[in-house]
Amino acid sequence: MCGIVGYIGAKPVLDVVVNGLRKLEYRGYDSAGIAILEDQRVKVLKSVGRLSNLEDKLASNTLNGHLAIGHTRWATHGKPSDENSHPHQDCSGRFAIVHNGIVENYLPLREELLAAGHQFSSETDTEVVAHLIEEMYNGDLLKTMVAVGQRIRGAYSLVVICKDHPDEFIAMRKSSPLIVGLGDGENFVASDIPAVLEYTRDIYVLDDGEMAMIRRDGVECFTLDGDPVEKEVYKVTWDAVSAERGGYDHFMMKEIHEQPKAIRDTLTGRLDETAGQVKLPELKLSTQEINEIDRIHIVACGTSWHAGLVGKSMLEKMTRIPVEVDIASEYRYRDVLHTSNTLVIVISQSGETADTLAALRDCKKKGLRVLAITNVVGSSVAREADDVLITWAGPEIAVASTKAYTTQLIALCLLSIYFAQVKGLMSSDDAHDWVTQLANLPQLAEQVLDTAPQLEKFAADWVHAEDTFFIGRGLDFSVALEGSLKLKEISYIHAEAYAAGELKHGTLALITDGVPVIAIATQPHLYEKTLSNIKEVKARGAFVLGITWVGNQDLAHSVDEVIYLPQQCAELSPVLTVIPLQLLAYYAAVARGNDVDKPRNLAKSVTVE
Ligand code: F6R
Repeated sequence: MCGIVGYIGAKPVLDVVVNGLRKLEYRGYDSAGIAILEDQRVKVLKSVGRLSNLEDKLASNTLNGHLAIGHTRWATHGKPSDENSHPHQDCSGRFAIVHNGIVENYLPLREELLAAGHQFSSETDTEVVAHLIEEMYNGDLLKTMVAVGQRIRGAYSLVVICKDHPDEFIAMRKSSPLIVGLGDGENFVASDIPAVLEYTRDIYVLDDGEMAMIRRDGVECFTLDGDPVEKEVYKVTWDAVSAERGGYDHFMMKEIHEQPKAIRDTLTGRLDETAGQVKLPELKLSTQEINEIDRIHIVACGTSWHAGLVGKSMLEKMTRIPVEVDIASEYRYRDVLHTSNTLVIVISQSGETADTLAALRDCKKKGLRVLAITNVVGSSVAREADDVLITWAGPEIAVASTKAYTTQLIALCLLSIYFAQVKGLMSSDDAHDWVTQLANLPQLAEQVLDTAPQLEKFAADWVHAEDTFFIGRGLDFSVALEGSLKLKEISYIHAEAYAAGELKHGTLALITDGVPVIAIATQPHLYEKTLSNIKEVKARGAFVLGITWVGNQDLAHSVDEVIYLPQQCAELSPVLTVIPLQLLAYYAAVARGNDVDKPRNLAKSVTVE
């Protein structure tokens, strides 16, 4: 998830590009760079760290030109460093490219280009494309890029400039977003509208599989095969501030809606649907080491800990290895019992949470093997763990975690299947079934987002509640914990999650007339038991919102309102169930006039103990 900007025109190009990058910095801030066409030469300047580091470098340079591209990076392949920053160039320095996304087949391409004599100066998948362009260049930039597009696989957006073509540049889109800003005697390209909104409100939104040839006096669009495409101009009507949030009022809502894509991105390259297999080539754990694991400890904080609770169930069911889940601030001060073959899994969106990092370091000191699930390449947790599984959720800006949680669940499921395959515990039919279920998830998550109006209405009716209870059994209880945390942290309504069967051991005393109870009943083997618990709270006057899958139409008779979810296997249902809970918390917070993205007393990354 990186930010791209390109400009051709009479304005001071670097100002335009840097301004645009500033608006896109939320997409990644590991490094930034620009390439400018000056006197028939492509000049590149880049710097690791925040955009301000690049600006410092630019301040001591006098670069001039009428065409430039820029990039702000969220590291994927290769750690954050000057070398791995974009733009990347070929050996001759004729081209410069910026890229957002992942080139899945970059390793075989790199081998091929090395054999052809190309030399690489970075670890990135992007540099491979720069060299590929050089290798395939035939003097016609458009035709070359069509040919290059046919050689690369994955989800990407690419912008390329060439010193032989000082009056034009090319932008290509395959899955990763890209827009063209239309000006008068000038034109722009960017990953997102806010980058160009200061200059124009006329936009071409490039569709998946389209490219654009951009000149000062016009823009031509084509399919990736080079066939011309007529585009309609989209007029942006939002103000600049809401544009940064993609038209949503808050980053949290934007991120809730990004979940189908985040899930898809986390699955990309990890499912072999034909063979019915999960592939995790990034893991260094050998077959023997996986077979020797006799315990797993999952360690995390907050929402990541909640993901760990779901992960325990998946891992135990599929791998038959006993799993403990611990809160990092408890784990590090506990006299933990482990064996020499215990695998520690730390989960952290930011990869910087102080307690999780300290637990990781303690475990490493004890000689334990640590696998990290994190959303930030190059974070402390990612650097220090022995093995890393990245969740490709993209930067999460809102303090309340949403898409990081769902992608953590995906990573844990992939890991469970992978271990089960390696240990020979999963039949080929079961593996095929899992792979199919996972591949269908993004589309189902999309459907669940349609429940938003129902939740907005429910939240409006119940905005003055002082206490709310979330109940469920098994995995529904784990999700209830996450739902109650979301509600507390942004709406400031007191909320508790209970294992539904535990209510009668004390908490039932708090259920009186009108108290809202969110009852989750998605687990088939526990459905009837949960239904009995729902009847217990209904009998005490609770106002119950039920969440279940679409087959359980009878739940409507026992609750006041129902949210129906598409059918999903029991283990993956938390990925869908959590979405209405996130929406509920969001609408409650908005109705109460709270600062949704920055709730009081909280910070996005808790780097103190
Ligand atoms: C809640 C939330 C927090 C984080 C927790 C751990 O919405 O975001 O509970 O989950 O602070 O953060 P990471 O995952 O970055 O270690």
